[in-house]
Amino acid sequence: MTDLEALRRTHYDATVVGLRRVHEDLLIVRVLPDGGPVPFTPGQYTTLGLGEWEPCVDGALHVGDSAHAAPALIRRAYSFGAAMVDAAGALLPPQADTANEFYVTLVHPETHDRPLLTPRLFDLAEGSRLYVGPKAKGQYTTAGVAPDDTLIFVATGTGEAPHNAMIADRLAAGHRGPIAAVTCVRRRRDLAYLAAHRTLAAAFPNYRYLWLTTREPENIDPTASGFVGKRYLQQFFAEGCFERQSGIALHTDNTHVYLCGNPQMIGDPRRHRPAGDTVSSTASGMIQVLERRGFTLDRPGVRGSIHVESYW
Ligand SMILES: Cc1cc2nc3c(=O)[nH]c(=O)nc-3n(C[C@H](O)[C@H](O)[C@H](O)COP(=O)(O)OP(=O)(O)OC[C@H]3O[C@@H](n4cnc5c(N)ncnc54)[C@H](O)[C@@H]3O)c2cc1C
Ligand SMILES: NC(=O)c1ccc[n+]([C@@H]2O[C@H](COP(=O)([O-])OP(=O)(O)OC[C@H]3O[C@@H](n4cnc5c(N)ncnc54)[C@H](OP(=O)(O)O)[C@@H]3O)[C@@H](O)[C@H]2O)c1
Repeated sequence: MTDLEALRRTHYDATVVGLRRVHEDLLIVRVLPDGGPVPFTPGQYTTLGLGEWEPCVDGALHVGDSAHAAPALIRRAYSFGAAMVDAAGALLPPQADTANEFYVTLVHPETHDRPLLTPRLFDLAEGSRLYVGPKAKGQYTTAGVAPDDTLIFVATGTGEAPHNAMIADRLAAGHRGPIAAVTCVRRRRDLAYLAAHRTLAAAFPNYRYLWLTTREPENIDPTASGFVGKRYLQQFFAEGCFERQSGIALHTDNTHVYLCGNPQMIGDPRRHRPAGDTVSSTASGMIQVLERRGFTLDRPGVRGSIHVESYW
């Protein structure tokens, strides 16, 4: 056995059983842990890991801090996603799936000087081995939601992964209140689950899927046909566009809003207020937009109807 095989045997506990390269920067990976799919409550996350000995998709060597010590397993948190529909287009509750699904974006060095795991995840192939944490974690779930409540899921990019699991789960549970998801992406091609959302919206009258782009010609080129400019989710909600387009009203007494992805979209003041700043510097985050409408943040020990999962 080579050293590499020995390292893989020691550290890995799952196999890639499905891969969809949406484009060169976006990946849907389905994994089957050796003991069967990890059970999870929709909205939760686990850990994926690959050794720093594995190749990177761009051929570059991205070595970790322990490059001079024993080879390390690089681990990061990933939300459990969901296919939402099966091959026949029928609703697929996450618990009925035969594998765990993850939705991953490739972080480039210009965004972060040394992304370690995603360049390796993007080099996976069907049959590759990797590490999957055996337990689901997190409080970002629909626990406490009543069947007639309004559910609104707001995401940037791959932040829609846990929402997809919660949406499929609630629809399968017969949720009666309105459910809407809104995702903001750079380009239309980043909407990897658009077909599944459309299938569900056609099948369930209480489900709506809306999306925004920020880098298409109609967002950035005033001479482009259909120019609409660039709007972030915060503006979309603050200016009432969400309510107009979805037909769903935001009421503090029965609406739960879930925010996942880019921390600047979420706007959590506890994380982003610079030292010495007494006023929130992220007044444009979704939390602030919703607080101005009377919503309160859900946090340990204090129930609220704004739920957040920040990816960094
Ligand atoms: C609870 C939780 C769940 C997560 N679930 C997912 C998921 O389902 N899918 C996913 O793609 N990522 C998810 N992440 C982010 C993930 O853990 C990694 O940080 C990410 O994949 C980058 O890993 P890396 O080692 O390549 O880069 P790192 O060295 O970890 O670089 C981190 C930097 O990359 C950027 N970044 C990280 N994640 C993203 C992202 N999703 N979109 C845009 N920029 C990003 C930020 O600038 C961040 O500072 C989650 C994070 C948390 C805390
Ligand atoms: N998606 C791609 O085509 C692409 C291409 C090259 C590299 N990448 C890599 O992929 C990684 C992730 O890209 P991503 O597009 O999935 O995630 P992202 O960078 O978080 O962007 C997702 C969406 O959030 C928007 N956004 C950015 N800042 C915001 C803010 N302050 N408030 C509200 N919304 C905000 C983005 O708009 P903006 O247009 O203003 O950013 C975009 O529409 C990056 O780290 C990058 O390295 C992606």
